[in-house]
Amino acid sequence: MPVVTYQSETIDATPDAPLLDTLLDAGHRIPHSCRSGVCHSCMMICQEGTPPQAAQNGLKPAQKRQNMFLACSCLPTEDMTVVLPDQSQITSEATITDITWLAKQVYRLKVRADMDFIAGQYVTLWRDGETGRSYSIANPPNDDKEIEFHIKHIPDGAFSDWAHKLTVGDTLRIQGPMGECCYGVDDVECPLVFIGTGTGLAPLYGIIQDAIAHEHQGEMHAFIGAYNTDTLYYINELKALSSKHPQLQLHFSVLKPSDDQPDGVQTLALDQLVLDQPLPLKQSHIYLCGAPDIIEKLRKQLFLNGASFQRIHADVFVHSAP
Ligand code: FES
Repeated sequence: MPVVTYQSETIDATPDAPLLDTLLDAGHRIPHSCRSGVCHSCMMICQEGTPPQAAQNGLKPAQKRQNMFLACSCLPTEDMTVVLPDQSQITSEATITDITWLAKQVYRLKVRADMDFIAGQYVTLWRDGETGRSYSIANPPNDDKEIEFHIKHIPDGAFSDWAHKLTVGDTLRIQGPMGECCYGVDDVECPLVFIGTGTGLAPLYGIIQDAIAHEHQGEMHAFIGAYNTDTLYYINELKALSSKHPQLQLHFSVLKPSDDQPDGVQTLALDQLVLDQPLPLKQSHIYLCGAPDIIEKLRKQLFLNGASFQRIHADVFVHSAP
């Protein structure tokens, strides 16, 4: 059985248990969030031994050269001595430039940070050295170096409740960017389909703006779903984009009707809203963002209706803690 050394303690590593669980079970405080290799908040450095290849999936070449790895994806196969990286090794400073409520339970956080990114990628924002949460970037790169996030506020949430009390000028740490759910289309005539629920709108809003900035000419359909109109946001911003760029067509739906339902918002399940449209699914690049169960259901339905798996792009976040 491999032995892992952390903070001078030697621990037997169960071969079929992720190192993250082994260290947590031994009483150590290791930052983590998604437990699925997505958020990179459980990054560690292997000082002796070699981390399994699977524990380095998605890391940058420079991080691999430094023997960094993800503890939640690490099933140790040999003895290892591991440490947590210094925060300055994996994060940089971001200064808050805007905090605005967009809808009930959703607020926009804008920061200025010296970080290169592509619209649709995501980062992990850190409250401190232990609490980090991943959020999609909701805007394309810009000269002001501003980065926009749409954050679902969870009362008593370790990050979201803390961050909404910050003010302009405060700073936090930012890690990333990560993810490949981006525009990246060679053919500016091909159809694009965007489907999002809740704050899954954030990356889609960034990718739509990026496609427009790349002068995408093909038809673009955005399907935005929410539980009710209280949680539906950016309708006017999207309508303004659509009236300026008519190739962008909008479709909104909510599950629960309300008396003040805006024009054009249907009461319908999101998958039904999508499948009711005569879309050129076979030729389309399709971007899915939102709740994992809805995204997986849609992915299968779209494939069964002619979409190519290779052209379906999705980032799904799974948080283990609020
Ligand atoms: S990548 Fe390990 S907890 Fe998210």
